[in-house]
Amino acid sequence: MQIPPAAAPSSGPRQAPSAKGLPILGVLPEILRDPAATFVRIARQHPGAVVRIAFGPVDAYYLSRPEHIQHVLQDHWRNYPKGSSMWRPVQRLLGKGLVTSDGEAWLKNRRRIQHLFTQKSVASFAHVMIDVVERAMDDLERRLGSTIDITSEMTLITQNVIFETVFGTRVDSAMAYHLGDHLAYVLRALNLRMMLYFLPDRFPFPGEERLRRSILTIHDALMRLFQEHEARGQPDGDLLTLLRHAADPATGERMSEREIRDELVTLWVAGNETTAVSLAWLWILLDKHPDVHARARAEVEEVLGARVPTVDDLERMPYCKMVIRETMRLYSTSWILPRTCVEDDVVDGYFIPAGATVFASQFALHRDPSLWERPEEFDPERFAPERSAGRHRFAYMPFSAGPRVCLGMAFGLMEAQLILAMMLQRFRLRFPPGYELRYEAGATLRPRGRVPVRIERARG
Ligand code: HEM
Repeated sequence: MQIPPAAAPSSGPRQAPSAKGLPILGVLPEILRDPAATFVRIARQHPGAVVRIAFGPVDAYYLSRPEHIQHVLQDHWRNYPKGSSMWRPVQRLLGKGLVTSDGEAWLKNRRRIQHLFTQKSVASFAHVMIDVVERAMDDLERRLGSTIDITSEMTLITQNVIFETVFGTRVDSAMAYHLGDHLAYVLRALNLRMMLYFLPDRFPFPGEERLRRSILTIHDALMRLFQEHEARGQPDGDLLTLLRHAADPATGERMSEREIRDELVTLWVAGNETTAVSLAWLWILLDKHPDVHARARAEVEEVLGARVPTVDDLERMPYCKMVIRETMRLYSTSWILPRTCVEDDVVDGYFIPAGATVFASQFALHRDPSLWERPEEFDPERFAPERSAGRHRFAYMPFSAGPRVCLGMAFGLMEAQLILAMMLQRFRLRFPPGYELRYEAGATLRPRGRVPVRIERARG
């Protein structure tokens, strides 16, 4: 039954309408089939409402409006930590790093680290990024005519960026591919555990032993790099050195070794997966929209010609920036933002009980026809200043928003712009005819399966 949006309350909070689902299991079977589409369906059936979702044994609420999301992520963020929600299984990989911690522990480390990721600080890493990307382009040049998997290839580049900016070291491609494969497996295996987060830790999920070994492989490899960094003394300039010195401005206290370990794994995972997958989506969308591809390439030609870009060039390529923004609207790699409500609350008149899980979903929000004109269309110019004016600040959130907004936003955007420009300068990617775009929504929203593309030289 479709429930119309309720009118503003005259007194007292109202019950949120319930999403249609099966008895007892609620929407769980639908969520396990296609979680991203489930939120789109719920949003369309209850426009403007906070919607109650029976999610197995859990009481959960879906936030459909930017105003609801602002309430939770910004205005009352302390009442909505990540808590015991879907983030708990991810702690097996990320420990208590910034993405998965809460409360004082999170605040202390966020205060220590965030100055390293401002626009200005990040610009000082541009030369390292450019160098990594330039080497990756030379490597692709040697493989002209061959077929690559675009997601793995983008992951290789973004991993190398993290290795060199964070650890100040180069890692050979075989090891980077190997770690990339382990990470892809871990994220896939965590998907089911995230969706069924209400099950006890000891629930016998399939593939447990392989998951354990893959997480260990990643931790061991990153700890080896950390130890090598320590053994080299204190090479200045890389982020790890800066992290070692980062003190809490309130107390002057530095991070413990364990805290540094968790932040390193967090930066490595959060810093390479999301950027790589966004770029994979970008190439898929450019293939489907040759007119946009041609315009982006013409802009790069005009601003850069064949020379290597600098940070200052990025501002002079606004169309490329809009293409990235629009890619992140349609295929936001972070597609869901789960939080736990600590104390009873009222959001836009709807009652949210303590202990409930609340969800915002960028996948559904970015496709909401009341916020976006023809939302299914890939239209980079919707991010032109004149068409962006008046848009609600929480209507577009590929990097989330509020105090827990992505720490690496400036880093990831700069990196994506550099990779886009430098690849457009030199290559044209050929997708198999009729390539069908399919996604897989888990810890991140990834293209499903391999994305085989042939690398050809770009022609003028
Ligand atoms: C296109 C690239 C990226 C996207 C789309 C992205 C997206 C996000 C989102 C949506 C969150 C918030 C998750 C939540 O609140 O539930 C987040 C958090 C975070 N991201 Fe990113 N990210 C990107 C790149 C990066 C990079 C390059 C780094 C680091 C080098 C990074 C580090 C982090 C960290 C540490 C957090 C946790 C922040 C906190 O809670 O204090 N991200 N990211």
